[in-house]
Amino acid sequence: MNAAARATTAEAPHAGASLAVALDDIAISFAVKGRPVFNAVAPTSLHMREGEFVAIVGPTGCGKSTLLNATAGLLAPAGGTVSIFGEKLIGLNARAGYLFQQDALMPWKTALDNVAIALEIGGMARAQAHAQAQDWLKRVGLARFTERYPHELSGGQRKRVALAQMLIRQPKILLMDEPFGPLDAQTRQIMGTLLLRLWAQDRKAVMFVTHDLEEAIALSDRVVIMSAGPEARIIGDYPIDLARPRDAAEIRLDPRFHELHRTIWNQLKTEVAKTYGDDMDGVEVSS
Ligand SMILES: Nc1ncnc2c1ncn2[C@@H]1O[C@H](COP(=O)(O)OP(=O)(O)O)[C@@H](O)[C@H]1O
Ligand SMILES: [Mg+2]
Repeated sequence: MNAAARATTAEAPHAGASLAVALDDIAISFAVKGRPVFNAVAPTSLHMREGEFVAIVGPTGCGKSTLLNATAGLLAPAGGTVSIFGEKLIGLNARAGYLFQQDALMPWKTALDNVAIALEIGGMARAQAHAQAQDWLKRVGLARFTERYPHELSGGQRKRVALAQMLIRQPKILLMDEPFGPLDAQTRQIMGTLLLRLWAQDRKAVMFVTHDLEEAIALSDRVVIMSAGPEARIIGDYPIDLARPRDAAEIRLDPRFHELHRTIWNQLKTEVAKTYGDDMDGVEVSS
C-alpha cells in the first residue's frame, strides 16, 4: 500500500465506527479444467467502516467481481478471512444486499410485486409488504409506475426498481457490481445522484465496483485501486474529500475532482496498460 493508504486509515471520516467488512489476506483461486490453478486474487486486505462508501476500481478482468463475490459469501477464498461486523463469514452474507450489472427482476411480476417479494420471502404479510413496496417505489421516483411490468420500463426505471428491491430489506451493507453499467452516461449520473440521496438518509457501508474512475470519485468516500491480474492486489487507497451532498454529474466540474482524478489515474493507467499489453503498443495511455 502507498502513503495515501496509510493516511486514509488514520484519518478516515468514520474513525471509531466498527468495521462493516474486513477482508484480511484474502486469496482467491480458480481451478480450470486441464490448466494450472489460476490465482485471481493474491493475498490482499480491505477494511470498510460502517457507513463508508468505498469504490473499487481496476482494469477489466482484474478481480473486482471476485472480491465482491467473496464478500457476498458466493465464493469461498482459498486463504484469509472475510469478517462482517466482526464475525467470520460462513456461507452467504445475510447482512448484505446486492445489485449487479444485470438486474434480476421477474418479467411476469409488476414493479410493485417485484419489490414486495423481497419482503414476502422473508415472511411478511402481503398487504404490509405491498405498502412498504409502494413507499420505496415512490422514494426511487416510480410512484406512477408501480403496475408496470419490467418490459414496460426503461433501463433506468428498471434499475430504480432493482434499487428499491435491494433497499427495502434495509441491509447494513450494499454490494454493487457495476450496477449502472448497461445504462447510458446521462442516466448513470442520474442514478448515481439518486443512490447518494438514498444512502445519505441512512448510511450503509457500500462496496461499489466499477471500472469507471469518474463514477468512483463522484460517489465514494474512498477509491481503492486493484492491480491488473493475475494475483491482483489492492495497490492504492485514496480518500475522496469532496463535500456532500453531491450531485454525481455536477461534482465532475469541481477543480478538486480534477485534481483527484489526475492523481488516481496516474496510478490506474499503469494497470490498465498492463491489462491490454501488446494490444496497446503504440497507443498512448493518458487521462
Ligand atoms: N469461475 C471462474 N473460473 C475461472 N476463472 C475465473 C472465474 N471467475 C473469474 N475468473 C477469472 O478471474 C479474473 C478476475 O475476474 P473478475 O473478478 O470477474 O474481474 P473483474 O470483475 O475485475 O472484471 C479473470 O481473469 C477471470 O477470467
Ligand atoms: Mg466484474
